[in-house]
Amino acid sequence: MLGFGSKMMSQLSAGQVICLTGDLGAGKTTLARGMIQSVLGSIDVPSPTYTLVQTYECPDFELWHCDMYRLEKPEDGYELGLIDAFDEALCLVEWPDKLGSLIPEEALHVDIAFEGEGRKLTLRGFKNIT
Ligand SMILES: Nc1ncnc2c1ncn2[C@@H]1O[C@H](COP(=O)(O)OP(=O)(O)OP(=O)(O)O)[C@@H](O)[C@H]1O
Ligand SMILES: [Mg+2]
Repeated sequence: MLGFGSKMMSQLSAGQVICLTGDLGAGKTTLARGMIQSVLGSIDVPSPTYTLVQTYECPDFELWHCDMYRLEKPEDGYELGLIDAFDEALCLVEWPDKLGSLIPEEALHVDIAFEGEGRKLTLRGFKNIT
């Protein structure tokens, strides 16, 4: 999962929104960690479950790692500054459904499902990743 995150990261840049969906414990944070560490090295990447947002300074852009699980209503996303971030930063969003229509239509999607001991990833909107 960490390695796949690194592959995904190679075709992403500022202004893109990546929605990470899947059940509790599916591996959304683990995938985001792989993406972030592929750019910034083996830094600590905590789950944003309680902070809702963690930001990282990457060389070419700012990266926002968001976990909307505890968001009470979509409008609370405005206060977090998400609208500007969706335009300007690379945003990885766990539990994007909590934001309702605030999620841009052109967002990319990764759905993670349990499959035996492993995981099955379904991508929407990406160019081919091999
Ligand atoms: N192939 C795999 N990919 C990702 N995680 C895996 C895999 N196999 C086992 N795991 C384990 O599953 C757990 C996934 O936890 P993670 O916090 O990434 O899930 P999450 O989808 O972010 O959950 P939450 O909905 O609580 O935010 C970790 O403990 C991880 O070690
Ligand atoms: Mg998580």
